[in-house]
Amino acid sequence: MPKYQAVRGTKDILPADAVFFQYLESVARRLFRQFGFHEIRTPTFESVDLFSRLLGETTDVVQKEMYVFEDRGGRKLSLRPEGTAGVVRAFVEHHLSQTSPFCKLFYVGPMFRAERPQAGRYREFWQIGAEYFGNASPPADAEMLVLLETFFKVLGLPNVKLKLNSLGDAQCRPLYLEALKAYLKNRQATLCEDCQRRIDTNPLRALDCKIDGPTLVDAPTIDAYWCDPCRTHFTMVQELARGAGVAFVLTPRLVRGLDYYTRTVFEVTSSALGAQDALAAGGRYDRLVKEIGGPDTPALGFAMGVERAIQAFVAANGSPHSQPDRLVFVAAQGEAGAVEAFRLLQALRSSPELEAKGYVFEGGFFEKKLGAQLTMADRLKAVYCLLIGDDELAKGDVTIKKLASSQQQRVSQQDLVSFLVAAPLDA
Ligand code: HAM
Repeated sequence: MPKYQAVRGTKDILPADAVFFQYLESVARRLFRQFGFHEIRTPTFESVDLFSRLLGETTDVVQKEMYVFEDRGGRKLSLRPEGTAGVVRAFVEHHLSQTSPFCKLFYVGPMFRAERPQAGRYREFWQIGAEYFGNASPPADAEMLVLLETFFKVLGLPNVKLKLNSLGDAQCRPLYLEALKAYLKNRQATLCEDCQRRIDTNPLRALDCKIDGPTLVDAPTIDAYWCDPCRTHFTMVQELARGAGVAFVLTPRLVRGLDYYTRTVFEVTSSALGAQDALAAGGRYDRLVKEIGGPDTPALGFAMGVERAIQAFVAANGSPHSQPDRLVFVAAQGEAGAVEAFRLLQALRSSPELEAKGYVFEGGFFEKKLGAQLTMADRLKAVYCLLIGDDELAKGDVTIKKLASSQQQRVSQQDLVSFLVAAPLDA
């Protein structure tokens, strides 16, 4: 075993995996643009205080999972456990509410949580997220649901389920929490240690406790407590989403691990994943911007776990590319041939026509014997090997060897691009 290994809960994204990250990101970027979102990049660490204030002092993320450290100036900082807090801070700090009547932002980046690692749960993981500021009305909620649904449809994930709930607001939620607390108190002795503590600090979390959650079958649910404005809002969200073809399951016991949500919350799960089956989650957080001193601005958003989305994607589709790269290996013999082959290699790489046909070019091992260069081309599974030796150089030609059949032919350098463009895809 090598002496140094990736830290527990982290992993290297090797080139074979990076392809999936790139694909997911490119699909997300295209969709986000269509829905009017613009990219924001915020730092990977922020003050501890920002996270504890926005995510909630009593959440597991803040209490147990943050990577907290003190910098040399004695500032208490934390690696970001999620993306929303930093985006909200940036929204307020840069007065983004003043530049446009609403603001739609997306981000792609690593997040850090000191959770117990297991399949689908890492200590460093990637999220693709979107945040929408300045729209309090149901079309904003429905739009986020459409965006998520479209994303998973484009990825071709068949077994996803969108769970939807409303957590009410400052008007109605306290009444529900009282009822839930009373219910939990009645059965306190049967609850796990965490849930006993949660009765007073964060009773909602008992509903999705792995141990107690399944036993709380007759717990009161929030839908019986929504105030009229929350009920009207949520009914409209459902109507709009349904009208736009979004399939969802109303889940009155759906709660979230972060405290900032108001009204609409949702979660997308996939049956292709194991115990960690949440692909994406989000909701409305109308009080957060004001909470850190910004203007009273409604907002909502979601984030998707990239590793989990990749796992579900691979289970459904295998590779992201129906058409793999067509690799061409450039070889040379002799010093003058090497100079010309090197020039040709770079020229081919800059041809947009060849790029459009999926060609990539490799070479530059001209000091090796020709046989060794051909062996390399074979090992790389190149489709063609191009060769320039003294004779080719003298005539301005290239020898093209098709590696699958070992057939070879001479083509003038002038005709090389059109030859490759016209070559059948299976070549
Ligand atoms: P979250 O539910 O904590 O929400 O995380 C969103 C997604 O990130 C999860 O559904 C999951 O796919 C992925 N994820 C979370 N933890 C891990 C982990 N340890 N390993 C791998 N994947 C993980 C948020 O983070 C909110 N900021 C979402 C949001 C945005 N709400 C409003 N705007």
